Amino acid sequence: WAKKTGMMYYGAATDTPGQRERAGYEAQYAKYDEILKDPKQFGQTTPTNGMKWLFTEPEPGVFNYTEGDFVANLAKDTGKILRCHALVWHSQLAPWVEARTNWTKAEMREVITRHITNVAGYWKGQCYAWDVVNEALDEDGSYRKSVFYNVLGEEYIKLAFEVTARVDPGTKLYYNDYGIERPASVKTAGAKRLVQMLKDAGVRIDGVGMQAHLHADNHPTAEDHENTMRQYLELVEEVAFTELDVRITDPANETSLEWQKDSYVQVAKACAKVKGCVGITVWDFYDPFSWVPYTFPGKGAAGLWFEDFTEHPAVQGVVQTLKGL
Ligand code: G3I
Repeated sequence: WAKKTGMMYYGAATDTPGQRERAGYEAQYAKYDEILKDPKQFGQTTPTNGMKWLFTEPEPGVFNYTEGDFVANLAKDTGKILRCHALVWHSQLAPWVEARTNWTKAEMREVITRHITNVAGYWKGQCYAWDVVNEALDEDGSYRKSVFYNVLGEEYIKLAFEVTARVDPGTKLYYNDYGIERPASVKTAGAKRLVQMLKDAGVRIDGVGMQAHLHADNHPTAEDHENTMRQYLELVEEVAFTELDVRITDPANETSLEWQKDSYVQVAKACAKVKGCVGITVWDFYDPFSWVPYTFPGKGAAGLWFEDFTEHPAVQGVVQTLKGL
């Protein structure tokens, strides 16, 4: 139904079995995989963890693609579009990068270049898009003082995009962040500045990824989403909802599940309507594998399938919305 509206995909991110948020769920994998792999449910996937620096270059110059390949191969085997995530990010970074405080600029340039050359090079041709730089902004829209920024300033962002473009010219180059879904927020303004900075420098950027980790009780409307997307689309050729989930205060009840349904529906409506919105990725569809309860105790049920594999009301909400457009 998503494709019928002009979107390329409605997808779901997933993790490697060993990394899935809750151990002890092995008995659920068969049913989980059945839903994940069903092309009628999801046409796209993203590894929630496996392609991150911590897993791909745990030691300097030592590369490991096992975790990332799990999801890349799943995409290949089930005919799904693969979004690749994330080349340069301050979190889940290997300790050897993060912990060192005396990097020279030249060393840091070399480290970023080597990382991207190897990782984007390894999956060359397989990634529809790469989240080249992830979460480079603070809550107020200024640059986050990550190890990359502290050594190189905004140059690290340009470098990351330039190297990725060179290594895998066919992949779409995205800037990806959370809290950049609202039309008038300072962080949205920051994201636009970041994109403009790249363009002014003549550096290629193709897309903005709005993560969209939303709250059921205070979510943007389709108009908000449209307004935000149109602002980005003045600068880049496409946008996507890259990590959609909608958290609820425990325990979920009928009212909060209705709000949640509306949150998912507003995103679907907006993406279907705006031509440059290529698709939506849910940040794991199965509640027990969601990151939300671990990071925000007292919040949960952010996905689309409950623990017992019954569907949240949002599933039919989205299906009926897309069907009816
Ligand atoms: O590696 C261990 C594993 O050995 C253990 O069995 C397992 C069970 O507890 O934990 C594993 O580590 C966890 C890892 O996810 C894999 O599940 C970490 O503790 C946990 O911190 C880590 O969380 C990830 C989080 O990024 C880290 O910031 C989430 O799964 C992942 O969904 C989340 O994704 C991020 C995006 O990349 C960027 N945007 C925000 C989004 C949510 O935080």
